[in-house]
Amino acid sequence: MSKSIDLTLKVWRQAGPKDKGHFETLRAQNISTEMSFLEMLDVVNDQLTLDGKEPIAFDSDCREGICGMCGAVINGRPHGPLKATTLCQLHMRHFNSGDVIAIEPFRAMAFKVIKDLVIDRSAFDQIIQAGGFVSVNTGGAPDANAVPIAQDQVESAMDAAQCISCGACVAACPNASAMLFVSANVSHLALLPQGQPEAARRAIAMVREMDRQGFGNCSNETECEAECPKSISISNIARLNRQFYRASLASSVK
Ligand code: FES
Repeated sequence: MSKSIDLTLKVWRQAGPKDKGHFETLRAQNISTEMSFLEMLDVVNDQLTLDGKEPIAFDSDCREGICGMCGAVINGRPHGPLKATTLCQLHMRHFNSGDVIAIEPFRAMAFKVIKDLVIDRSAFDQIIQAGGFVSVNTGGAPDANAVPIAQDQVESAMDAAQCISCGACVAACPNASAMLFVSANVSHLALLPQGQPEAARRAIAMVREMDRQGFGNCSNETECEAECPKSISISNIARLNRQFYRASLASSVK
């Protein structure tokens, strides 16, 4: 049954990338437990606007858990306390009246804070541009059954393809590593016949770009898998490591 709750928010406020930033204490009152977390922030922003104050800047788009735009660290956990749930799909019924909620942006050297909770994820775009694609000639779509693929391969590829590039894996990792993101994007292509011709070049190019963007190394902490809203498995990291080392030994790519 729907009810209303009152909350105290400790929200990270940062005017721009060069600003030092600070936590601001705000009240969120009369919040319906049917609301999503982002709808709760909308209510707080309405009040801030009415009071002539600057609303909290935060990213969102689909609000259906599929675009990867939303994301903040809620009480120390990327996307909040629920497993396999994006911030936009987190509902206020999981909080109690009187709770104090700390809200801060995903933090990593490669993710600059643009304003408040908004971060720059263009480092992920650069990694995808380095190799997260299949080069194809355009033309008519081939018949769906023209290239038979084993069911378990398809399922593993589709599991990896669920990555929404939100960056929670980076925010959760003590090394700010992007290995889960890179491995998911390498895996979903390498597991399918269409992605295999470029697999070696792709693994090397994406790992190099990841390093160039300033992400840390993986030391098997596994927080990335625990906090991923799409439950991407760290077995993809093992696959990426195998691909990378095999490609490094065999390839003449410099
Ligand atoms: S707003 Fe699209 S995943 Fe949350």
